[in-house]
Amino acid sequence: MSDYRSLKAVDPEVHQAIADERARQNLGLELIASENFVSRAVLEAAGSVMTNKYAEGYPGRRYYGGCEFVDVVERLAIERARQLFGAEHVNVQPHSGTSANMAVYFGFLKPGDKLMGMDLSSGGHLTHGHRLSYSGRDFRVVAYGVDREMETIDYDQAERLALEERPKLIICGASAYSRVIDFARFRAIADQVGALLMADIAHIAGLVAAGVHPSPIPHCDFVTTTTHKTLRGPRAGMVMCREPFAKDLDRAVFPGIQGGPLMHIVAAKAVALKEALTPEFRAYQQQIVANARALAARLAGHGLRIVSGGTDNHLFLVDVTKAGSTGKVAEKSLEAAGITVNKNTIPYDPNPPLVASGVRIGTPALTTRGMREPEMDQVGDFIAEVLRAPDDAAVHEGVRAKVRALCERFPLYDPLM
Ligand SMILES: Cc1ncc(COP(=O)(O)O)c(C=O)c1O
Repeated sequence: MSDYRSLKAVDPEVHQAIADERARQNLGLELIASENFVSRAVLEAAGSVMTNKYAEGYPGRRYYGGCEFVDVVERLAIERARQLFGAEHVNVQPHSGTSANMAVYFGFLKPGDKLMGMDLSSGGHLTHGHRLSYSGRDFRVVAYGVDREMETIDYDQAERLALEERPKLIICGASAYSRVIDFARFRAIADQVGALLMADIAHIAGLVAAGVHPSPIPHCDFVTTTTHKTLRGPRAGMVMCREPFAKDLDRAVFPGIQGGPLMHIVAAKAVALKEALTPEFRAYQQQIVANARALAARLAGHGLRIVSGGTDNHLFLVDVTKAGSTGKVAEKSLEAAGITVNKNTIPYDPNPPLVASGVRIGTPALTTRGMREPEMDQVGDFIAEVLRAPDDAAVHEGVRAKVRALCERFPLYDPLM
């Protein structure tokens, strides 16, 4: 029998944890570069009855009956993504960025084939060939990195490595890299060795969609992404590819690595993609970058070193060693002040990842709240104040009160939602 009681009535513990999480999001400064706040419409679709539906297969070719309405949302998501990115083919079913990358590797490489990706310590992602991920276990890996002095991608090194190692797939894209990625240069490198080229735009998808970062679509065979970072959709993934790869890609996602798609999340992706097609979204993406530049400049004004000297996108890395700190300490003390960042290694970091010499800072979430350059100056001052006194609880308390006051001026979700 159906149970129509509310969450609060059925499970007060989970209800309370969700309420607490909403308060945490409302009253703290979210600077984790990979996070964002979805719209009410996206949240509604993600929490909809489409969670009940099995839909193995693709629109019009399902293994289950009753798919006429989930077909509608999947077709909408595909069409909107094609329009937004100018992609020839889109698969919107990957549950995450990790699954999106897995679909490309398992669909187009054989175990033991060689792939080349960006080193984790230079800003790459675990799924680009790290030994602890499937990508580094099932395939042979070659890693390129950033130039020690400029701290920007060393394209000459990537080219040299490609010529020596002749990888079957080259991956470009990153998790902690603040500069424009030259997709055309990677295409030229791939062509020299006959490699397939994949861009993972998990972080910069929103910027690419809005034309604020050059698009990889004209240069790459595959483009993977998450949908929950700058793109501001639900927590999930997506793969785009050239038409000749379409059939094999779809087979690689289902039945290759996944079963039934999460249709409530596919519905939420469709909504987010509709939002991303608006002029407001373009202005939002431009503001994300303006905010990141303003915040980086403010922190540099406080004497902090910004890796590579600044940013072209939504994030940047701060080397906190000059302030006598580590990433681990900085993350903890900022958290005590209501400011959420993540510790991050910096290029050629002497510290291990769990200590790290830097923090990664991103502006998508604060920009969603409506904050602009004047607020970034304030946020920069808060961060500098905490980093100057990492062990001083009174300073953390004081900054926390200022953070709360700032957040209250930029409310996030309606408390009654
Ligand atoms: C570049 C890149 N690719 C893939 C992923 C993985 O995404 P997910 O956490 O959805 O598996 C991330 C996540 O941080 C990422 O930054």
